[in-house]
Amino acid sequence: CAKKSPAKSDGSGSAGKPITLGFSQVGSESGWRAANTQSVKDSAKAAGINLKFSDAQQKQENQISAIRSYIAQKVDVISFSPVVVTGWDTVLKEAKAAGIPVILTDRSVETSDPSLYVTLVGSDFESEGERAAHLLEKVLAGHTGTVKIAQLEGTTGAAPAIERAKGFAKIMKASHPDWKIIASQSGDFTRAGGKQVMAAFLQAHPDIEVLFAHNDDMAIGAIQSIQAAGKAPGKDIKIISCDGVHDGFVAMSKGQINAIVECNPLLGPQLMDTVKTVHAGKGSTLPRWIKTQESDYTADQAAAALPSRKY
Ligand code: AHR
Repeated sequence: CAKKSPAKSDGSGSAGKPITLGFSQVGSESGWRAANTQSVKDSAKAAGINLKFSDAQQKQENQISAIRSYIAQKVDVISFSPVVVTGWDTVLKEAKAAGIPVILTDRSVETSDPSLYVTLVGSDFESEGERAAHLLEKVLAGHTGTVKIAQLEGTTGAAPAIERAKGFAKIMKASHPDWKIIASQSGDFTRAGGKQVMAAFLQAHPDIEVLFAHNDDMAIGAIQSIQAAGKAPGKDIKIISCDGVHDGFVAMSKGQINAIVECNPLLGPQLMDTVKTVHAGKGSTLPRWIKTQESDYTADQAAAALPSRKY
């Protein structure tokens, strides 16, 4: 595998040229994604990194084409947020053969060869699923008996959809035999998806008591369907979601969402620091996973927290 000459760690590459970063974004499916894209663009600019950006519109084949195009353009570093976890080895091997290091951001991949990427900058989604279950414990305090739960999953095959479901199920299994997931389907992390799937859930199961939505956008879409069905979101159906975007906080401050597990999209500054370290030839000093710091919020905290939310 051809090795590029290491660069200085200030945003400039070898011979003082700026580092060129090829970044393949998942798409523009959610408020989280919009904030993440802005963070990547702003922090590349602030770090003096030449950013080549492409939006894959939630299609793996578009991401693979973008990565191949970055390899052909001989960028210094490639970063991407993989839409799904599987199917990356071939293109990652092509990047490795070209001597271009790869940094994953936001979402992970499944690979048999850990040398195909340097590190992942992103959240612990399994822990987010566990935190969602613990928030539901608070929301349901004092409730006894069966709890009928509907789950709006993220994009099928995506790390946050798989791992949030896993973390939530883990806490259910360990501590809540009386919680039952009676409906679970993907809403693709979009408002339209959340609205449509929740409407179908309510037709089939008018007795849903709780909604666990894998992101705020699907929860906001679902709120419209809950209201259309003549029920009060946050009261007749308790809602827990993930992200903590501005509109999620607005819904929470109105009592429509009961609690939110924060998933921080502002990964740009950490990503640019990581790009510089990797390009300077110091990737081996980095942990395999640079985890994001996050908090949990319940409806009683929403109004006070809203003015200081940054996304
Ligand atoms: O990968 C992060 C997830 O992707 C966010 O939770 C969701 O809103 C986004 O689409």
